[in-house]
Amino acid sequence: MAKEKKAKANTISNEHGASMDKIVSLCKRRGFVYPSSEIYGGLSATWDYGPLGVELKKNIQNAWWTEMVRRHDNIVGLDAAIMMHPRTWEASGHVENFSDPLVDCKKCKSRFREDHLAPEALESKVCPECGGELTEPRQFNLMFTTHMGPVADSGSVIYLRPETAQGIFVNFKNVVDTTRVQIPFGIAQVGKAFRNEITTKNFIFRTCEFEQMEMQYFVKPGTEDESFEEWKAARMAWYIDRLGINPDRLRFEAHGPDELAHYAKAAFDIEYEYPFGWQELEGIHSRTDFDLGRHGEYCGKEINYLDPTDNSRYVPYVIETSSGLTRSVLVTLMDAYHEEKIGEDKNGKDDIRTVLHFHPSIAPITVAVLPLVKKDGLAELAQGLEKELREDFATFYDQGGAIGRRYRRMDEIGTPFCITVDYETKEEKTVTLRFRDSMEQVRIPLDGLAERIRKEIRNYKRV
Ligand code: GAP
Repeated sequence: MAKEKKAKANTISNEHGASMDKIVSLCKRRGFVYPSSEIYGGLSATWDYGPLGVELKKNIQNAWWTEMVRRHDNIVGLDAAIMMHPRTWEASGHVENFSDPLVDCKKCKSRFREDHLAPEALESKVCPECGGELTEPRQFNLMFTTHMGPVADSGSVIYLRPETAQGIFVNFKNVVDTTRVQIPFGIAQVGKAFRNEITTKNFIFRTCEFEQMEMQYFVKPGTEDESFEEWKAARMAWYIDRLGINPDRLRFEAHGPDELAHYAKAAFDIEYEYPFGWQELEGIHSRTDFDLGRHGEYCGKEINYLDPTDNSRYVPYVIETSSGLTRSVLVTLMDAYHEEKIGEDKNGKDDIRTVLHFHPSIAPITVAVLPLVKKDGLAELAQGLEKELREDFATFYDQGGAIGRRYRRMDEIGTPFCITVDYETKEEKTVTLRFRDSMEQVRIPLDGLAERIRKEIRNYKRV
């Protein structure tokens, strides 16, 4: 069996387990997230997902799709275009209302969102950076504009969508007419959204280009409150059970009457405790018939539904679940990150391992296959095994360096299982299965290996 120091895992990092600096550094170092256009000095508030980041993001997206679409026989998927008819955004209220109040410092020219300023700065109208005088607030629309066609005039202005939701509303009738859905039913979509955000610190938390996972659930008016409560519970459970997020770092936060978006009757955020405090991860909104009503008005033909159960005709109400995909990537990274003391080195210093305790179903690599040594045919044997396992899992082959160091490299990117191929593999057709969280190693037969890993994923309980 491969040798490795074993000691009781002991968290020594801060209570949260991660600081933003450590996450940003690990993401860059191991290929999760890079600053966008870095060779040109970067572009603020935009990030690129590297080889491991794109796998993590896709796995979260797939977990959401499986939960929302595959596990519900009354929810269907959609992939609408990012660029939509500009009337869409007049109808939705975004042209008129989707703005932030901005103030500028007359001295240092820094720009702030008025609602993000501390009460003292708000009252004294003094810049928190340099003490200079602040301007009066002015409204700044968050939608990016571009032009369609060869002439860039006001007639060709279109918007990059600031939410995916409107693509669903404008296709409501198409979906009803072309599928067998009956109310209550949902339409789900994952895709890019764009907002010209002014305050964009905190890595991928708030960016100008991001991805959303949204679902609009259409219900009969009068049943929306019940549905709202059901979706609140279901969405919270998804983060805990499927993404494996620590429930102590999740909570609901109600929007007060003065915080409600222009379309909402009621709204709750699912918040996560980031190192910079409790902030939104997902919004759950009771949107009434606002959107379908307005699109009906703006396109000149009411968008309604004929209910076959009682032949009534009505404009459905909507419960929306709106999660940030890129923000979920940040949450899974932060929540998974731990530094653990696992012993002492030869100079008596703490031996620390950095580990990402991802739920195995979203880890970028599920199984690493490692030959104990390269010689005597072990490398070839391990390569053959890795190719076989590729059919079922995201795999990785690594033969470079001491086995203990290879395990650590896998811990740092959150690989839940390592398979070590050694001399006994040749003779007895067994391998070592090493668990990331406990660092425990067990000897198991090659026969039935994939099934054993599948079982471990199904029964996974976070430490
Ligand atoms: N359709 C409703 C809607 O868009 P929202 O609360 O504005 O509601 C929903 O956004 C989710 O989208 C947020 O909870 C967050 O996860 C994500 N999100 C919003 N703006 C974002 C940004 N600038 N960067 C990253 N994620 C963002």
